[in-house]
Amino acid sequence: MNTNRLSETLRSALNAQMTKEAHASQIYLSYASWAANEGYDGIAHFLFKHAQEERNHMMKILEYIIQRGAKVSVEAIPGPPADPVSVQQCFEKVFEQEVDNTQSIYKLVKMSFEQEDWATWNFLQWFVKEQTEEETMALNLLDKIKIAGAEKASGDALYALDRDLEKQPDDAALAETKTAENP
Ligand code: FEO
Repeated sequence: MNTNRLSETLRSALNAQMTKEAHASQIYLSYASWAANEGYDGIAHFLFKHAQEERNHMMKILEYIIQRGAKVSVEAIPGPPADPVSVQQCFEKVFEQEVDNTQSIYKLVKMSFEQEDWATWNFLQWFVKEQTEEETMALNLLDKIKIAGAEKASGDALYALDRDLEKQPDDAALAETKTAENP
C-alpha cells in the first residue's frame, strides 16, 4: 500500500528547499563569524541567532516531508559565498539572500497550487508569511546602516549600530500586526 502523499516533483522540490534553508543557515553563520572577527559583536550575535532560525526552517520542511509519508534525502550543503567587505555589504547580501529565498518559496507555492496539493499549499503559507518578515528584517538592517552613514559610517555610528543590534530581536513586526493605537 502506498502511503506517500507527496508527488515526486513536490517531494524533490521540498527536499531542495530543505537544503536551501540549511545553506541559508551556513551563510548567516559565515557572516556572523566575519562580524565577530571584525569586532562587531552585536551584529554577530544578531546573525548567529538568525542562523539558528534558518536551521529551524530546515527542520520544519524535513518533518513535513516525513509526515506526508515521503522520503527525506539529506544532501551536501553548498559553502557560503565570500565574506562581506563592509557592514553595508553584509546587510546588502542578507537582503539579496532573503529575496532569493522568497522567490524559491513562491515557486513551491505555485507548484503545490498547480498540483492541487492543498496540504502542502497550506503548509507553505507559514513560509510565505515568514519570508515577508525576513525581508522586513533585512530592509530594517539596510535602513540602519543608511542612517549610520552607509559606506562612510563613522566608527561611533557603527559602534552605536552594533550595540543596538545586540538587543534587537531577529524577527520583524509585520504590517498586519499594526493598529492605529500601535502604529
Ligand atoms: Fe528561511 Fe531567511 O528564510
